[in-house]
Amino acid sequence: MSVLDNRPALKAAVDQVAEVAGYLWQKGWAERNGGNITINITDQVDDALRAMPAIDEPRAIGKTLPHIKGCWFYCKGTGKRMRDLSHDPMANGSIIRILPDCAHYEIVADAVVAPTSELPSHLAVHDYLLAKGSPYRASLHTHPIELVALTHNKKWMEKDVATRMLWSMIPETKAFCPRGLGMVPYMLPSSVELADATIKALDEDYDVVMWEKHGVFAVDTDIMSAFDQVDVLNKSALIYIAARNMGFEPDGMTDAQMKELSSVFGLPK
Ligand code: 13P
Ligand code: ZN
Repeated sequence: MSVLDNRPALKAAVDQVAEVAGYLWQKGWAERNGGNITINITDQVDDALRAMPAIDEPRAIGKTLPHIKGCWFYCKGTGKRMRDLSHDPMANGSIIRILPDCAHYEIVADAVVAPTSELPSHLAVHDYLLAKGSPYRASLHTHPIELVALTHNKKWMEKDVATRMLWSMIPETKAFCPRGLGMVPYMLPSSVELADATIKALDEDYDVVMWEKHGVFAVDTDIMSAFDQVDVLNKSALIYIAARNMGFEPDGMTDAQMKELSSVFGLPK
């Protein structure tokens, strides 16, 4: 028995997480337990699920987050593998609800799987999104090889230098990641400082931010769309590397071509 049984909307949302987890593994972005996913499932929770008791003691979030009070999330489990989650999301993740004090959560289903170590960043981001009335309900952290490699050079960590290069490799990247790639300097994984810096970067108008020498953090309406944003950015990084491997620095699209694209597609920047 699973809480997903007879709840098609909830099952569809969790199944989409499982599908994306499979892609992350196939792409080589999810070594061992690398990466994590959370989705806000509050709208898919019915009264019967709401009435279910917790299956474990309350745990501290590490932050007080007033806007996610009473919200529900599906979270990848800490130490769990994306490749395992893709086959069995409820054994490699859990459903949690945020308690009224906004500082603790409890696991409701299906098994006592402790949520990802990056929960402070994920929940702080969901809190930020709800506070600003955003329709975004999904957040993804993953380790895309080529994008992480870029952050090992100070030049690419400067504001919007990588964005400009990545956008100019192929028109789709600006069209489908229209806010570009924010940069967060190295901070300890799972720390509250990293959560705060991530929100600051998202607030500067990015949907995708890099954690220097670690990975990427992306938000969107659903997890497939968050994955797509990272996928188009990493594709551009691969094109850049392919050109460099052919022995030349790629020209990139011109400023005039990028401007035309922005006006035709109605892009913000
Ligand atoms: P978890 O297994 O705790 O989700 O951690 C993976 C990770 O990528 C940490 O940054
Ligand atoms: Zn990580």
